[in-house]
Amino acid sequence: MLYRISIFFKSQKLKLMSIRTIILSELKHEKSFVKKIILILLIPFKIIKVLCGKEVIIPYVELVVTTFCNLKCQGCSALMEHYKNPKHIDLEDNIKSIKRLMDLGISIKSLRLLGGEPLCYPKLYELLEYLQKQDKINEVAIVTNGTMTLKDEKLINILKDNKFWFSISDYGEVSKNFNNLINQLKENNIRYVPQSSSYEWVDYGNFEKRNRNEKEYILQYNKCTHRRNSLLNGKLFHCFRCSHATNLKFVSLIKKDYIDLFDENISNKKLKKQLYKFIYKYTPYIESCKYCDCGFNLNMLSRGKQNEKK
Ligand SMILES: C[S@@+](CC[C@H](N)C(=O)[O-])C[C@H]1O[C@@H](n2cnc3c(N)ncnc32)[C@H](O)[C@@H]1O
Ligand code: SF4
Ligand code: SF4
Repeated sequence: MLYRISIFFKSQKLKLMSIRTIILSELKHEKSFVKKIILILLIPFKIIKVLCGKEVIIPYVELVVTTFCNLKCQGCSALMEHYKNPKHIDLEDNIKSIKRLMDLGISIKSLRLLGGEPLCYPKLYELLEYLQKQDKINEVAIVTNGTMTLKDEKLINILKDNKFWFSISDYGEVSKNFNNLINQLKENNIRYVPQSSSYEWVDYGNFEKRNRNEKEYILQYNKCTHRRNSLLNGKLFHCFRCSHATNLKFVSLIKKDYIDLFDENISNKKLKKQLYKFIYKYTPYIESCKYCDCGFNLNMLSRGKQNEKK
């Protein structure tokens, strides 16, 4: 009984946190004072809509646009070392998954494009062009490894829109264009945030089964601060590690661990209900936690250290 009550409160907390995130970001972006007041007055309606299941807000989602990377970092959280045949996800598929969410009226506070390396994605401009038009997406970040600058004028121009910004990782000498990229973004008034020099990498450990018990997995998942919704090939997961692990066929796809946005046999109404549960319902843990040290042993790793070239 006590367990059920605590799960109920955890689910409500998740809903309230999503509402808080979206409202704060809307208020932050709104410049007009009058519109800010209107937004504040609408807060109770928003809360009711979310609590009744009429609105779903995803605070943060990572879209994997490619499994290709120009670096080979040891312990990459996206398991890049393990992709023998990396590929760029078809533009149509990336758009199709976002479009399904938009058709359902889902709001996304922050969408992050990553991979692999998103600046290697050949259809980046076309994807941004589509995302720019989506009112239900508040902001879009491109997470890049600091090895490249922008070559395409069209791309530079679209990125001047305030909706977009860069998160630039800093792997020291390896991020050889870190400063050049920053200068280029500054010159073109494109928003960016450099990775903090105190940011430490987590050692997720090898992809092997840990054989912990159920209680330990539940504790691990609840303590894990690195899980983030991730979208890969039309499937939405609770954690980026799970999306890559299933894509690589390291773990099997388990129904409760993902939502298939490409499933044409499911009506929009039913899919929205599934998404509501997926985002807000308390999840004890996911299959990938059984193969991960994060949230259990918190060991640190050097950022962006490269594997020897084969
Ligand atoms: C997987 S990378 C993909 C984007 C891009 N290639 C890059 O390196 O910035 C996304 C983010 O995960 C971070 N990251 C990668 N491996 C990590 C690890 N083991 N622990 C913590 N953060 C990690 C990177 O620093 C980067 O900010
Ligand atoms: S962390 Fe390193 S290997 Fe992983 S995607 Fe980013 S640059 Fe590539
Ligand atoms: S502990 Fe689980 S949720 Fe956290 S990063 Fe590992 S697989 Fe993802």
